[in-house]
Amino acid sequence: MASNSFGKIFRITTFGESHGEALGVVIDGCPAGLELAAEDINSWLQLRKPHVSQYVSPRSEPDKAEILSGVFQGKTTGAPIAIMVENIDTDSSKYEPIKNILRPGHANFTYYEKYGVFDYRGGGRASARETLCRVAAGAVAMKILAKQQIKTAAFVKSIGSVVMAAPLPDIDLLRKLTYDSPVYCPNATTADLMIREIEKVKAAKDSIGGIVEFWAENLPAGLGDPIYSKLEANLASAMLSIPASRGFEIGAGFAAAAMTGKEHNDQFVKLNNKITTVSNNAGGVLGGISTGMPLVGRVAFKPTPSIMQPQKTVDINGDECELQLPAGSRHDLCVAIRAVPVVEAMCALVIADAILYNQAISS
Ligand SMILES: Cc1cc2nc3c(=O)[nH]c(=O)nc-3n(C[C@H](O)[C@H](O)[C@H](O)COP(=O)(O)O)c2cc1C
Repeated sequence: MASNSFGKIFRITTFGESHGEALGVVIDGCPAGLELAAEDINSWLQLRKPHVSQYVSPRSEPDKAEILSGVFQGKTTGAPIAIMVENIDTDSSKYEPIKNILRPGHANFTYYEKYGVFDYRGGGRASARETLCRVAAGAVAMKILAKQQIKTAAFVKSIGSVVMAAPLPDIDLLRKLTYDSPVYCPNATTADLMIREIEKVKAAKDSIGGIVEFWAENLPAGLGDPIYSKLEANLASAMLSIPASRGFEIGAGFAAAAMTGKEHNDQFVKLNNKITTVSNNAGGVLGGISTGMPLVGRVAFKPTPSIMQPQKTVDINGDECELQLPAGSRHDLCVAIRAVPVVEAMCALVIADAILYNQAISS
């Protein structure tokens, strides 16, 4: 497994398994002089934590980050920053009876095929618990964005057939309302409908998919590097590396395929002595380079593979069997909800890397 790192200059490497001793991230390439405390990271980790509401996994973890290196007297030194989070609430006993069963929608079949071994305890390395490392690194990346007044947000746009209509234009309010919502949807009316949708699938012992939208504002024009490091290509790579992600789009995205050129083209205008566009179907990127308009994209998440009803499958020897998760199994009903801070963190990581990359190639 040789692909646990992401980013060119602001480069993260994550480690750890769901039920191992700890998980963490090493950040290489972070500039010196940024104020950084464990609390900055912990406030982000709280947003991703299981148990933030009744609609997500009831695993109860304190998720407290410890900064092991790279920070001295409250400031980054330019040395690698190592962040570690201990696993506390790891009851692996429930996984013992199903350890040889191939779980539909899970990664154990492909891990067995490729590596011949699988850490079945909570999904091991394939577990979405790894995403806490991304959120911890994202909290550090946010410091680089904040220096340039760049703001980010992400929110649940849809769950099943319930779709939020026009989003709020104010990014700060959008972000606040999102993280105040039990389903991370900033529109209270839509959130109620989403909750009903989740309760329906819960009663049916099933799960459901959803879409997370992300925004970033105040980006300068010029981030992103053609040809193979186009900003949207790096974002796509970042988002599609999140477990359970199944689709990515930027701007009008797949809807662009049903539009005419006249409808889709964003007209240029000069406003307050600055060249900008009237609309933003491009989602803030042209030719792989940021336009200065808000970066807007979406990530589709599949329904949670763990469901409480029996499923037909086979074991690692190919013998037919039935998978029934034991009562009290802990999992998310809709992974899109807890994916929100992960998407926001991945967006921050890509932007921070693009900022530092521009500085590196121009120096
Ligand atoms: C934030 C988040 C939480 C998740 N929680 C669960 C969960 O509780 N149960 C589960 O079966 N899958 C969960 N997943 C999805 C699995 O980790 C993922 O589907 C699985 O590892 C297979 O990988 P793939 O879907 O990317 O192919 C979660 C994903 C994310 C992003």
